[in-house]
Amino acid sequence: MTDPDLAAQAVAILRENDRGSYTVPTKGLYPFQWNWDSCLTALGQRHVDEARAWTEIETLFAHQWPDGMVPHIVFHERDDGYFPGPDVWATGRPVPTSGITQPPVAGFAVKRLWEGAADRAAAEDRARALVPKVAAWHRWFFACRDPGAEGLVAVLHPWEAGRDNAVDWDAPFEGVPTEGIAPYTRRDTQHADPAHRPTKAQYDRYLWLVERFRGLGWDNARLHDASPFKVVDPGFNAILIRSAADLAALAAALGMDAIAAENRGHAARGLAALEGLWSDAHGQYLCRDRATGGLIDSASSGGILPAFAPIPPARAAALAARVEALGGRARYLVPSQDPADPRFDPRRYWRGPVWLVVNYMIADGLMRAGQGAAAARITADSLDLIRASGFAEYYDPLDGAPLGGGRFTWTAAMVLEFLAGDAA
Ligand code: DGY
Repeated sequence: MTDPDLAAQAVAILRENDRGSYTVPTKGLYPFQWNWDSCLTALGQRHVDEARAWTEIETLFAHQWPDGMVPHIVFHERDDGYFPGPDVWATGRPVPTSGITQPPVAGFAVKRLWEGAADRAAAEDRARALVPKVAAWHRWFFACRDPGAEGLVAVLHPWEAGRDNAVDWDAPFEGVPTEGIAPYTRRDTQHADPAHRPTKAQYDRYLWLVERFRGLGWDNARLHDASPFKVVDPGFNAILIRSAADLAALAAALGMDAIAAENRGHAARGLAALEGLWSDAHGQYLCRDRATGGLIDSASSGGILPAFAPIPPARAAALAARVEALGGRARYLVPSQDPADPRFDPRRYWRGPVWLVVNYMIADGLMRAGQGAAAARITADSLDLIRASGFAEYYDPLDGAPLGGGRFTWTAAMVLEFLAGDAA
């Protein structure tokens, strides 16, 4: 496949999954709007239709909660092909949404749309309207997910981290019970190979947490302290820090000085606190379990994602070395778990497979940090995967087999970004 063919196929997938004002991640498996999917999808859409790209993010923020949270799913239409649907979440929103959030990549995405826009007047208007909403989301994070003012936020559910069944959550999941959950039927395993999806034991815990938070009326002032699962994920925090730094720069350019100062503060405090997650033994960052206080011994891609944030140059160099070491153990970078780890599972969702969105963010950060060789290898591996296996949800890092859902929106969007050369 030549690169123009790849681009044409990516554009066709974006069109096919476009529902007018939002895009579904893929037909069947994910029939609604997902938060970080949409923000990253907009980056691909901008190469085709700038106005449509802005609409993608605006639609998501039209469903922001009054407290500032931006939910992880917006259930625009009824579709019984997905579980858990709006009746399980029962959040009481006018258009139903889930009750948890997702990696806050919007600040980064909005700045990137704005800086690359051909239509400067439209970009200025649309950015000006979105900036205060993104700022409110960031404020919500530090108020509700960092009540001890540590500078880093906790995720209260693996679905918030986006890396649903990462090895990182195995130890904290030991503190999450499963007693008393309502009987349920999974739908994901009817759309995708069950061997490539989370296990029943994990789903039971996902559901227990949803029922616990629903029992608290989705009151974000109470959820953090009441949750047995609260993990400080370096990848999630790096995305928040990068978005805060980018939002600060964008707000400053638009003359929105108070928002700029507030977000510069979030980024600076977050960067200082991120140092506490560094592991010399692993040469990367690790999660911290806020329920126990300890670091979690799991070298996942979540601990390499901090490359996306403006971390110190020595840390970026160490992460580039780590990426190169992983490249010696996997044909395709970046495996979501180190293949040297006995818990590595090359085909099971976030326990080994490669995800193009993670590759994109790591490559972007490494490139900005002057680590061009590692960024170039990640970009080349990403495009090799598409040429070999098409636009899958995720891929086996050892043999490149396509896994999960097919004709996947954000994979297509990332390909357009890689081809445009923005990430590396
Ligand atoms: C799922 O249903 O698999 C999603 O990852 C939850 O957001």
